[in-house]
Amino acid sequence: VNTKISKTTSDNLKKEIAALPTDLILIIIDHNISSLYSKVLNLQEIEGKKVIVWKAPDGEKVKNIKEYESCVEYFLDKGIHRKTHLIAFGGGATSDFAGFVAATLLRGIKWSVIPTTLLAMVDASIGGKVAINSKEVKNLIGAFHKPENIWMNYKFLETLPPEEMKSGKGEILKYALLEKSIHDLVIKDAQMEEIINACGSFKLKLTEEDFQETGKRKILNLGHTFGHALEKIYNLSHGVAVLWGMAVMDIIYNQSKNLNVIKELKSKLSIDEEKSPWIKRDFPMEKIIELVKKDKKMVSNFDLEVVVVHEIGKPDLKTVDLETLANDVSKVQNELKNLSL
Ligand SMILES: NC(=O)c1ccc[n+]([C@@H]2O[C@H](COP(=O)([O-])OP(=O)(O)OC[C@H]3O[C@@H](n4cnc5c(N)ncnc54)[C@H](O)[C@@H]3O)[C@@H](O)[C@H]2O)c1
Repeated sequence: VNTKISKTTSDNLKKEIAALPTDLILIIIDHNISSLYSKVLNLQEIEGKKVIVWKAPDGEKVKNIKEYESCVEYFLDKGIHRKTHLIAFGGGATSDFAGFVAATLLRGIKWSVIPTTLLAMVDASIGGKVAINSKEVKNLIGAFHKPENIWMNYKFLETLPPEEMKSGKGEILKYALLEKSIHDLVIKDAQMEEIINACGSFKLKLTEEDFQETGKRKILNLGHTFGHALEKIYNLSHGVAVLWGMAVMDIIYNQSKNLNVIKELKSKLSIDEEKSPWIKRDFPMEKIIELVKKDKKMVSNFDLEVVVVHEIGKPDLKTVDLETLANDVSKVQNELKNLSL
């Protein structure tokens, strides 16, 4: 399957779904999206199709085994068949969850996404990595299962809370470090829609070239080694945690050379974030190591792979063992302690 990303409008969404080659549609919809848009869009009534809707708890609350069980049992109870098409309607949490349901129901049914957050539009809905969380660590129970369609409707961003907008912008900043043309778009104040498109196409291309993440797709993990741990320790949104993760990597492995670029991009994107969450305190390396050990980026019991950007648009992968990493961090404790962007 190659995923098709297309722009659409609220009016056209119904037509897109009506054109799917199936008589049975399942919709997994984020609770808040349901309250905001169900009545207006009326996707539960599509001519010529039976539509079964499962309302998901909002955001991350859906990504666990209990909700997974409740959702699949609900659909199976209603009766589904091999040609059923599932639609994820919400942010990245909803698409991660729904994609995992689609990957496992009847050993895999087709699915599509209507992303409603900035983060889902530029990142989470693209590439077919789908997952739910284990009790302690995110995304450990999952699969690779690409969606057929991603229907982009920027209108949804009008109701997105500012903190969620900021999270998506953090991921955009990541793309700007990975790809020079995206960097240039941000610097020259291009329209947000143009930037979203560029990020989406960049990720789609990478994930098509390396679907199972054995090679170059790994660069997308820039900032994530520390990011995932910081997200958990300080209860940060995903993109903001990635932003701090990238800054920390730059300090450790690039002599802080890109910190000014990160600052400039941050200001161009109007990301309202300045002092690091640990400002004036020690960087929480022990806690981070505990969490990193459980993360998927470990490639053996001791080693993990990290992404380093020495020059904008030219990321490198580097394998480090945890002891060396802790040691490298201790060498830059002072810079980390005073880190502001
Ligand atoms: N599969 C991947 O490649 C990938 C990549 C990055 C992130 N992710 C995952 O994405 C998840 C985060 O997703 P997210 O940041 O999109 O947020 P989310 O799906 O958790 O949603 C965040 C909040 O925003 C609300 N919301 C969503 N759209 C809205 C809208 N248009 N108007 C008003 N409220 C809205 C939701 O109800 C929720 O409360 C994490 O679980 C992360 O692991 C996956």
